[in-house]
Amino acid sequence: MQKQLMEYKTGEKVLGFFLLKTSVLRTSNKGGEYLDMVIADQSGDMIAKVWDLNNPDVQQARDITGRQVVKIKAVITDWNGQRQAKIQKIRKITPEDPVNTEELVPSAPMDGKDMYREILEKARAIGDPDFRTLTTALLEENRERLEYFPAATRNHHAVKGGLLYHVYRMLLTAEAVCGIYPVLSRDILYCGVILHDIAKLDEIDSNELGMAENYTFEGQMLGHIVQGIKIIDAKCRALGTPDEKRVMVEHMILSHHFEPEFGSPKKPMFPEAEMLHFLDLMDARMYDIEKSLEGVAPGGFSDKIYSMDNRKMYKPVFEEE
Ligand SMILES: [Fe+2]
Ligand SMILES: [Fe+2]
Repeated sequence: MQKQLMEYKTGEKVLGFFLLKTSVLRTSNKGGEYLDMVIADQSGDMIAKVWDLNNPDVQQARDITGRQVVKIKAVITDWNGQRQAKIQKIRKITPEDPVNTEELVPSAPMDGKDMYREILEKARAIGDPDFRTLTTALLEENRERLEYFPAATRNHHAVKGGLLYHVYRMLLTAEAVCGIYPVLSRDILYCGVILHDIAKLDEIDSNELGMAENYTFEGQMLGHIVQGIKIIDAKCRALGTPDEKRVMVEHMILSHHFEPEFGSPKKPMFPEAEMLHFLDLMDARMYDIEKSLEGVAPGGFSDKIYSMDNRKMYKPVFEEE
C-alpha cells in the first residue's frame, strides 16, 4: 500500500494515486492562471496547486475534473502553517494502473449497510406509532443513498457513510441520556435524531463514493433545515400524522442548529429539541477532534481545527494503566 497523504511532512516528495476531489481554475493577483485542487486518500484531504499550466508535465491538468483518481507527483510545501501539495506532474489513470479506488475513498469506520440496519432497528423500536411510521418510512425510502452519503463536503463527517455514522453515534448517546434525564421521551428524541439531517440527501451533491464536491442548487438556496421541514411536512400529511406531532418533529429540525446565524430561526422549545442540539454539536465536535489527533505524536498538538475557532488539540504522553 502506498504512503498515506497525512503522513507526508513539509519538504517531502509525493508520488502515487490520489483522489482528486475538486479542481478549480483561478487567476492569481499577478494575473496568471493556476489550478486550485483538493486531493485526498483514506487518511484525509489536502489543498493542492498547479502553478505553471504551461509545463508539459501537467498538460492534462486543465481537462481533469474533480471526483476521480489521478496519479500525482508533488512536493509538500507549508502555507500559513498548513500543508499544501505543489503539483509537478499529474495524469488521469488508465486501466493498467495498479490502483483500487475503493481503497482510496475516505470512509466511516463502519459499513453503510450495517449502520443502516442498526438504525432501522432502533426506529422500529419506537413505541409511538406516528413517530415510528414517519421515521421508518423515510429511512426505507432513502436506504440506497443513506448507505453511502457523507454529512458534509468538508469538515465533520465528509466521508463515505458519514451521514449515517453521525446519526448512529448520536443515537447511542441519545440512548444513554434518556436513562439519565426522565424528562426526555425516547420516542421523540430517536425520531428527531434519525431525521434531523435527512435533507442533506438533497442539500449535498454526492456520488456513490460519498465524494461531495458541491451543494445542489436547492441546497444552496434553501439548506437542509428548510428542505427537511418540507420533507417532514409532505410525509406527515401523506401519513395522516396528527398536527401536534408533525409540528414537534418540524421544530426539532428547525432548531437543531440553535443559532440564527447557523440557520435556525427558532431556539429549542421542548426538552428533546434542546437535547438534539447538544447531541448534534457534541458528535460534530468529537469527530473533528478525533480526526485532528490522528497521526499526532504523544506530547504534540494537532493542526488548528478550523471548525472549532482554530483551536489545537493536545495528545498526552502518559499512557493509561
Ligand atoms: Fe444539521
Ligand atoms: Fe447533524
